[in-house]
Amino acid sequence: MVAVGSDHAGYELKREIIGLLKEKGIEYAEYGCTDGTPCDYPLVAKEVCGIVASGEADTAILICGTGIGISMAANKVKGIRAAVCTDTYMAKYTRLHNDANVLCLGGRVTGAGSAAEIADTFLNTEFEGGRHQRRVDLITEIESN
Ligand code: RB5
Repeated sequence: MVAVGSDHAGYELKREIIGLLKEKGIEYAEYGCTDGTPCDYPLVAKEVCGIVASGEADTAILICGTGIGISMAANKVKGIRAAVCTDTYMAKYTRLHNDANVLCLGGRVTGAGSAAEIADTFLNTEFEGGRHQRRVDLITEIESN
């Protein structure tokens, strides 16, 4: 299951991403703003990342204006590796090398077409493991200190 959350600045792009997930028959759950009324992205990140960290969701897509604020908040949650991606290369390699479990997008930065390709790449790329596992483990170690 993919958890999809946004604040007001990401609301329109969230609608597009949900459209993509529906089209592809991917199970999802929606969080955050239900329209363009302002809400606080750290609260959305906290709720959605809790769901990913507990295993209830396999992954999440979080959207704010730039993707930055919501990724900062997401990365404060233990077990979360959130990556802001503005192109498919970033989406591919953050899965291959970082085992990112949350994709962050900027609703005011990335157009709907690009965002759909980025999300599709993120959701369809597996972690490569090997030497990258050691590096991901080192990230996790920082969390426990
Ligand atoms: C909201 O205006 C905006 O600050 C927020 O969506 C995000 O871009 C923060 O990083």
